Amino acid sequence: MREKILATIAERGCIPFPEYLGIALYDPELGYYARAGTQVGRRGDFYTSVSVGPLFGSLLARRFLGWWEENGRPMDWRVLEIGAHDGTLAADILSEMRLISADAWRGLEYAIAEPLPRLRELQKVRLENLASRLLIADGFGSITAQPLPGIAFGNEILDALPFHLIEMKGGSWKELHVIADEIGTLSLEPRATPIQLGNDFPEGYRTEVRTNFPDFLAEISSCLSAGLILFADYGFAAPEYYDISRSSGTLRTFSSHMAGEDPFAAPGESDITAHVDFTDLAKAALAAGYSPTAFASQGSYLTHLAKTMILGGGMDDPKTIAQFRSLTHPAHLGARFHVIEFERAAGIPPEVAHRLAL
Ligand SMILES: C[S@@+](CC[C@H](N)C(=O)[O-])C[C@H]1O[C@@H](n2cnc3c(N)ncnc32)[C@H](O)[C@@H]1O
Repeated sequence: MREKILATIAERGCIPFPEYLGIALYDPELGYYARAGTQVGRRGDFYTSVSVGPLFGSLLARRFLGWWEENGRPMDWRVLEIGAHDGTLAADILSEMRLISADAWRGLEYAIAEPLPRLRELQKVRLENLASRLLIADGFGSITAQPLPGIAFGNEILDALPFHLIEMKGGSWKELHVIADEIGTLSLEPRATPIQLGNDFPEGYRTEVRTNFPDFLAEISSCLSAGLILFADYGFAAPEYYDISRSSGTLRTFSSHMAGEDPFAAPGESDITAHVDFTDLAKAALAAGYSPTAFASQGSYLTHLAKTMILGGGMDDPKTIAQFRSLTHPAHLGARFHVIEFERAAGIPPEVAHRLAL
């Protein structure tokens, strides 16, 4: 991995940080997500809401079925998952959906866009007998060929998208590029950049910006003829993200459940991530014709979805209660994580506009 990075830098002099992330995380042979083994869960490097247990998938299944009911119970519809990893969340969603509504389950195509062959294989084995129709594609291409109504969603996918690193230096924003010295030590060097966040930031303030949301949303939306886009991830609306006190940004590495801040410590062996700026995502969605129709902390979003389950006695066993607590309690995953929904040509509820500072 280091050789590959150094060879790319030697060719070009320096590389922008998103390109470094593209190699370290997604190189098809050596990238962090391509390598064998498991990254998510107790034996991996980090937990997600999926590792907590099947409740997260059960609650999302209820949201998706709610959409299906509200939209005339289409008999040919799609749920597209992006960043489906080993297929655990898909399995949880499909199992719950089949239990609640066999009709909805029968008409559903569960689609996954997965660039990594190793993960496609895992997903196929896991889901073959759980979906009535399964489409696992190496990208969005073959899914966009036949758009269907439905839902496109991803859990912890946005934080895994490459990001730029920028820093206030000498009174203006500079973008940090990756360079190497004679003995191959990697470091960051500031260069001029068109990326601007305004001038009300102190010298040395460092943060992250993603410029890939418009392309990413365009690909996703072309897989749906109508419907909903939903993401759950950690992050904030812009005013909180770019708060003056957050002067060194949110870049983190994860390896064996230990967090670090040096992106060059173990490229290919640790996850490298940054929080999501949900305001920026919402602006990209608005430009693509989608409006944010919900934006809430994961705690309040899932509590709302769980209401009928709680009232119907489906949340009585201690294991499910423990999962609910982990997913929704502010000290666990309930406050740092947010859920956002988008719909085409819809109005923006005032409280959503306010929370996203739009
Ligand atoms: C942090 S993991 C989340 C896994 C899973 N959704 C969960 O919650 O346990 C991020 C996943 O997104 C995938 N990914 C990143 N960029 C992608 C893209 N452009 N298309 C599809 N998957 C992508 C990675 O391969 C990785 O499996």
